[in-house]
Amino acid sequence: VGARPQFIKLSPFLKAAEAAKHKVRIIHTGQHYDEEMSDSFFRDLEMKAPDLNLNIGSNSQAIQTAQMLEGVEVDLLQNKPDWVVVFGDTNSTLAGSLAATKINIPTAHIEAGLRSFNREMPEEINRMVTDSITDYFFTTTALANTNLGALGHGEEKIFFVGNTMIDSLLGNMERLIQPPLWNEYSLEDKGYLVMTLHRPSNVDGYENLRQLLSLINDNVGDKKVVFPMHPRTKKMFDQFGIAFDKLIVTGPMSYLEFIYMIKHSAGVVTDSGGITEETTVLNVPCMTLRNSTERPETVTEGTNELIGANPDNVGEWVDKMLQGQWKKGSIPELWDGKTSERILEVLCSKYSV
Ligand code: UD1
Repeated sequence: VGARPQFIKLSPFLKAAEAAKHKVRIIHTGQHYDEEMSDSFFRDLEMKAPDLNLNIGSNSQAIQTAQMLEGVEVDLLQNKPDWVVVFGDTNSTLAGSLAATKINIPTAHIEAGLRSFNREMPEEINRMVTDSITDYFFTTTALANTNLGALGHGEEKIFFVGNTMIDSLLGNMERLIQPPLWNEYSLEDKGYLVMTLHRPSNVDGYENLRQLLSLINDNVGDKKVVFPMHPRTKKMFDQFGIAFDKLIVTGPMSYLEFIYMIKHSAGVVTDSGGITEETTVLNVPCMTLRNSTERPETVTEGTNELIGANPDNVGEWVDKMLQGQWKKGSIPELWDGKTSERILEVLCSKYSV
C-alpha cells in the first residue's frame, strides 16, 4: 500500500487476516507521506503501523514507480511471503504486483478488473498491467469479471467478492466523528455540499481549476461547500489569490470525519472513484467531474452522475442536488461489509493446494 484509498481497503482485510491468525507484513511505499494523508488513516482505522515504510515520496511516474519496485523486491526476497496482496490502481499497486510476480510469489489483486478505458489516467495503465500479471483476481462487480475474462484469464482465478472499501465504510459507521468545522460554520444536516478534486486533469491547469471552482461557488446559492483539499490541489489553489466565499477550504480530512461529512451532506461533487462507491452505499447524491469512470455501477445502480470534466451545465446539476431532485440508487451486489472474509477464505483454500 502507499496511497490513501489503499489504507482504507487494507484495513478490513488486515483485521480479518489477523483474526484468523495469519501473519501480515505491511509494506508502505511512502507514496503518501503527510500525516493527514497517511498516519491518520492507520490511527482512525486502528491498524498496526507498517512493518516497513520505503519513504519513496513524490516524483515523476517512472521514478516513483521504479524506486518502489526496487524497495519492494528487496523486502520480498528477505521475507519470502507466501502471498502478496495488492489493492486498487495506484503506482504502489503496480510496483507491488510487478516486484512480486517477477520473483514468482503468488499475487492477488483486490479490486481487479476495473476499466475506465481512458489511458490518459495513470491508474488505467496500472490496472491494465496489474491485471495482466497477477495470479488471482478479487472483483467488486460482475462487469470486472467480464473484463478479466476478456484478457484470457480462466474463471478459476477470478472471484467476485464485493468491495473492501465498503467493508471499511460499514464497519466504521458507529465510529464517525463530527469535525470541529461543523459548529464553527453552523452546518446542518443536508444543508451543505462536500467537494473533492485531485485528478491532474482537473487540478493541474490553473485556468481549468479556477473556472471549475467559480462555477461551483457561483451556483450554490446560500449553501456552503466543504472542500477538503488534496496537497496536489492546494498547490494550485494557493496561486489563485481570489476568494471563493462559499467554499470552506480545509486540509485533507481524517477518514472518520470525512465519512461523517459526506453522510450528512446534501450531495458530493468529486473526481474520485472510491468516493462514488461510498456515496452509493450511503445513498447520498454524487456528481463526478470526469468524462469516464472505471466504476460504472455507481452510475447505473448507484447515486452517481458522470457529468464531465468541463461541464457547462454544472449549475443545473448543483441545483438539482440542492433541490433534492436526485435519482435514488440501490446498493450493488455483495457490497455488504463481508468481502474481506470472502477473500481470505479463497486465499486460504488456494494456499493449501
Ligand atoms: C494517488 C493515486 C490516485 C489516488 C490518489 C488518492 C497514482 C498514479 N495516483 O494520486 O490513483 O486516487 O493517490 O489520493 O498512484 N503530495 C503531498 N503529500 C502527500 C502525498 C502527495 O504533498 O502525502 C503531493 C505531492 O506534491 C505529489 C502530489 O501530491 O506530487 C501527487 O501525489 P501522488 O502520490 O503522485 O498522486 P496522487 O495525486 O495523490
